[in-house]
Amino acid sequence: MTETMYQEMIDATAECPMKLDDVDLFAPGQQEHWFDSYKILHEEAPVLRIPGEGTTPDTDGFVITKYEDIAMIIRDPYTFPQPTYGGAGLEHAEDDDHSVLLDAMARNTLRPNMELHKQHRIQLTDPWVGATGAPRHRPMVTRYVDELIDAWIDRQPSEIDFVEEFAAPLPQMVMTTILGFPFEDMPQLRVWGQAQVRRFVYGKGHRNLMSDKEEAENAHDLGEFMEYVQAQVTRKRQDPQDDMTTFLTQVEYMGRKLTDSEVVGVVFGMHIGGLETTQYAIAAEAELLAREPDLWNAIKADRSRIRFFVEEGLRIQAPTQGLSTRMTAKDVEMRGVTIPKGSILHLRYGAANHDPEEFPCPADVDLARANTGRHMTFSQGIRVCPGAGISRLEQNIAWERLFERLDGLSFTPGLNDFRHQPGIMLGLWDLNLTFEKAK
Ligand code: HEM
Repeated sequence: MTETMYQEMIDATAECPMKLDDVDLFAPGQQEHWFDSYKILHEEAPVLRIPGEGTTPDTDGFVITKYEDIAMIIRDPYTFPQPTYGGAGLEHAEDDDHSVLLDAMARNTLRPNMELHKQHRIQLTDPWVGATGAPRHRPMVTRYVDELIDAWIDRQPSEIDFVEEFAAPLPQMVMTTILGFPFEDMPQLRVWGQAQVRRFVYGKGHRNLMSDKEEAENAHDLGEFMEYVQAQVTRKRQDPQDDMTTFLTQVEYMGRKLTDSEVVGVVFGMHIGGLETTQYAIAAEAELLAREPDLWNAIKADRSRIRFFVEEGLRIQAPTQGLSTRMTAKDVEMRGVTIPKGSILHLRYGAANHDPEEFPCPADVDLARANTGRHMTFSQGIRVCPGAGISRLEQNIAWERLFERLDGLSFTPGLNDFRHQPGIMLGLWDLNLTFEKAK
């Protein structure tokens, strides 16, 4: 499937909303005005009803934008569990929609309750991509960052297509290595990675719905990827290596080994989560730096500020702006709005990050902001993103090496329109930068 069938969505432009009635976060082109919309929602409708878009046609969806409300929701998984169907288009899952079914299945068998949800993190993913396990990948990530920079640092003119030549390949190389896939498969893995996130880019509305035709074509692509991952699992069982896929085939969990489908399910999650999100974050951070030479100079002068810059970048331009991954298990009252049982909640993490009650002057990069890592970009609580550790590591190393090897970054004149992909992710299509090699 080519992305050209979505050209209309890609080209769409929209007026900046001036009042509440104009706000529709999910309308084509509105991604360029999300931050204006958040201001209106915070002030006038922090709990916004979307009629008929709940778990069933007679229930509703609700967009939640205040930091405090989202923080409360994600810490109460009993009142606000994952949708039993709906959130990621599960209601459209056919027998051949492997990825969705696999995900649901692995969730049921490996994480049937909260304690096992926690154990799933601690035992299966943290050792590889969580805050505890990610740091051991530092030498590998540093090597890839330097290899990518080597490819363009001496180029004349000193210009770079930053997304294609840095932000996209880095997470791809890192996740391919961690999962132990052959490097020569990367071009195809990138195509499958794009198929994995297609729903979140081209899906309609807050539930990321695709047409039956789109579902069928996507299921075909993902079916191919599933067969590929299955073949890798078989290979790792026969010829174990030092990688996460091998580890998953060998680990003892709940007193038994994981089945092939369970391993494939976990690997699928790593691959869908680990690519575009980190790409968008690194590109957004480069945009912030190219916009503010003073910021570049301040960090260049004191590299201990990089980690605060990365957190501010993640906060200001959260790659995953919102997800409809919670529902109400009972009637709930929030800011004077009754949210009936069975409603789907669209948690707008990107808006929580711009809540002025939590982050004064939210659009400003403030390297001295207290506890800036409390942003919602990776969510929080029991379902916090399991890959936050590796993503943060990649971003930190990227900027450590770029600050070391460059004296400046600026926009290449005439080549940038700063447009973003549609959907619920905030991802720059491209970013053309002119760099100054360090003297
Ligand atoms: C900047 C990069 C990233 C962002 C912004 C991001 C954001 C998120 C968010 C908001 C969630 C939903 C949490 C919730 O429902 O409360 C999530 C879940 C998830 N993320 Fe990430 N993520 C990133 C990187 C990664 C990486 C590098 C990986 C894998 C290596 C990953 C794997 C996952 C998986 C598997 C889930 C689902 C967890 C579950 O089902 O419980 N993510 N991520």
